[in-house]
Amino acid sequence: MSREHHRNALPESFQLEEYLVDSVLGHGGFGITYLAKDTNLEQWVAIKEYLPNDLAVREGLSTVYAKSTTDETAFDYGLERFILEARTLAQFHHPNIVRVIRYFKANRTAYMVMEYIEGESLSMRIKRCPLNEEELLDLVLPLLDGLEKVHAAGFLHRDIKPANIILRLDGSPVLLDFGAARLAIGQRTTDLTSIVTPGYAPFEQYDSKSPQGPWTDIYSLGAVMYCAITGKAPPDVIGRYKRDNMPRAEEIGAGKYRLQILRAIDWALALDDEARPRSIVEWREALLAEPLEILPPRLQKAFPTHQAAYRWFSVAMLTLALGVPTLYSIYLEIKAPGTLKAAVAEWFAPEINEQEIRDLIGRFFAAYDQANVDELLVLYSETVDYYNFGKVDKSTVKGDKISYFNRWPQVHFELAGKIDFSPAPQGGQRVIFDLLFNTNNPHARDSDSRSKKGKARHEWVLKREGSALKIIMERQKVYYRHEKAN
Ligand SMILES: Nc1ncnc2c1ncn2[C@@H]1O[C@H](COP(=O)(O)OP(=O)(O)O)[C@@H](O)[C@H]1O
Ligand SMILES: [Mg+2]
Repeated sequence: MSREHHRNALPESFQLEEYLVDSVLGHGGFGITYLAKDTNLEQWVAIKEYLPNDLAVREGLSTVYAKSTTDETAFDYGLERFILEARTLAQFHHPNIVRVIRYFKANRTAYMVMEYIEGESLSMRIKRCPLNEEELLDLVLPLLDGLEKVHAAGFLHRDIKPANIILRLDGSPVLLDFGAARLAIGQRTTDLTSIVTPGYAPFEQYDSKSPQGPWTDIYSLGAVMYCAITGKAPPDVIGRYKRDNMPRAEEIGAGKYRLQILRAIDWALALDDEARPRSIVEWREALLAEPLEILPPRLQKAFPTHQAAYRWFSVAMLTLALGVPTLYSIYLEIKAPGTLKAAVAEWFAPEINEQEIRDLIGRFFAAYDQANVDELLVLYSETVDYYNFGKVDKSTVKGDKISYFNRWPQVHFELAGKIDFSPAPQGGQRVIFDLLFNTNNPHARDSDSRSKKGKARHEWVLKREGSALKIIMERQKVYYRHEKAN
């Protein structure tokens, strides 16, 4: 049992109603948590005292006062929220959420009495060594379960981090420190650094205009998992927004953890809240996805025959268009070796035109429409330079696409509006286009992720390389997503 000292803390052996203060368990900007003995029941409890550093001081032995009259409103408001936190927590009877026994007012502030959890904090545990896959799942699955209940009741935790998770002696995790009070005060002060934890807080917690939701806690829990496997918290989001050089879990953990788990961590840590899993259900499904080796059954798409005919016609034209010059160039090369090389540079110099880009986008759309992994592999190897942070690794692309179609076997993309062209500063052609997506998962295990519609913006930088167009950069932004249970 660690004993801490805090200048502002109640002294040892202080009698607080039927509780006898033993020591300080921890303290933060918003309060002090004591270990205390319930003298009636002869049981240890943890008592959290509301004492926001910035706003209040203790005078004399016990009484708490707001520092000034201007701080009073904020202090009172925070106090209200502190009580709300206690009430909220008291609603949950979940083995992985700290149990609140009661709260009471005293010393002009409030106290929340909780079960005392004997064990060590996850931050201490991680300091010793990273968690292996089994330990990681034993940690995160019970927490997901608890958080799901919290979210279903309309609450968010907002401060999930290793220091707020205690591992009981049997290893099971317990989530502490719900941040309702923190948020309330945060809205009234401008000093955000005191209310968010760098590395664990997503962007929307720094920016009051961005909506918070389950995805906010999902980011933090993703960061906890990241820390559990790498020993370090992810870099803070503000830095990541400027330049995101965070090594991905998928790279760091390769070979040590299941790929789906690593990808689920990276998914949770997406900077853009829209690009993260929207719900615990969705995220858990990805975490626990079975490794799939077989392709999902091809879906029979009702392709109008005129479209099919048009496609064959295009293929024939393309073959002719490419075949004739090729044959001719072979003929030239045989006649005068070297001509070809010289000519190539000239032949392929022309600017990338709109039709080529439309064709390329069309090929991608068609491959997704048909859940055609083989075709996507061809497309990637021919045209993509950037995949997976620079490495176009065939097995990664394949694994990704298979798990993608496993989740959404029916995908349809459509262009929404025109394609915007401009020269890219790094050379090549920049194209920006919006697309509507529509995914439908007839095999989903839960209704939550059956169908998703939305709009996204893609930005590509294309360069001509040899005979192919190469996508040398891609950026995506999902605008909105509509979910409906079919
Ligand atoms: N119920 C509890 N059982 C055991 N230790 C606790 C309990 N509640 C809090 N602690 C310890 O006290 C520390 C501070 O409590 P916490 O509720 O996280 O408040 P804050 O971080 O806002 O000061 C925690 O990190 C944990 O180590
Ligand atoms: Mg805490």
